[in-house]
Amino acid sequence: MNKRREELSKGILSSTNDMLSCLLAIRDENGQPLEDDLITDNFIFLFIASYDTSATLITMMIWKLSRDPDVYNKVLEEQMEILKQREGIEDRLTWREIQKMKYTWRVAQELMRMIPPAFGGFRKALKDTSYEGYDIPKGWTVYWASCGTHMDKDIFENPQEFDPSRFENQSKPIPPFSYLPFGAGVHKCIGNEFARVETLTTIHNFVKMYEWSQLNPEETITRQPMPYPSLGLPIKIKQRCSNMS
Ligand code: HEM
Repeated sequence: MNKRREELSKGILSSTNDMLSCLLAIRDENGQPLEDDLITDNFIFLFIASYDTSATLITMMIWKLSRDPDVYNKVLEEQMEILKQREGIEDRLTWREIQKMKYTWRVAQELMRMIPPAFGGFRKALKDTSYEGYDIPKGWTVYWASCGTHMDKDIFENPQEFDPSRFENQSKPIPPFSYLPFGAGVHKCIGNEFARVETLTTIHNFVKMYEWSQLNPEETITRQPMPYPSLGLPIKIKQRCSNMS
């Protein structure tokens, strides 16, 4: 941290260089830098909030695609169609192509409904309040858990069934504050769009380039506390034989 501080003061790095430089350069309302503990705390928080969550979602996608041929074939079809429609010699994904990955994202949404990477969060009551007959005094901390609504049959019909189509042209819209993989309200995840792009880009390249199968087809998902394949998800992988690059 001190080395970075020195580089910042000498102008070798700037506050926009990376996350740590940004935290070191922040000044409070009195012009004072943040304390080291606060910087460390924010740094670790951001690491877990941004990296582990997305890695978990991508891992769950690979797990799901390995074991559900119907879902896999539809994802593959969507991704190959994007390549087929590509014009010119550009070999990189474009923003427009990512917007076309509707089915693939619905699979991710449905996975996050059934197995949310973060299963809840804390909120502090700013005033005395009551909810469903429970009094919550000012200052108390409560934990919201997404399974309370994600698995409620009045909100998601047949909640135990994996059905990505429930996120498609819903005849019965999902009530606000009910679908919460990214939380809700003023502290809602700031990285949700980034996570979507990250996940879709990774899955696109993965299915485009490889074919794979699970070494342990019965492998389940456990929690540590984020969802994690119980055996680490070893896969057998080979280059896809295809005339598409
Ligand atoms: C699949 C990926 C992700 C999931 C499931 C996820 C989930 C969440 C959840 C549940 C919260 C708490 C929201 C609340 O309390 O209402 C949160 C907050 C947050 N997330 Fe994410 N997240 C993901 C990716 C990311 C990424 C990629 C970043 C950064 C690049 C990020 C940065 C943050 C930050 C900074 C907060 C705190 C926001 C605040 O307190 O105001 N997250 N995320």
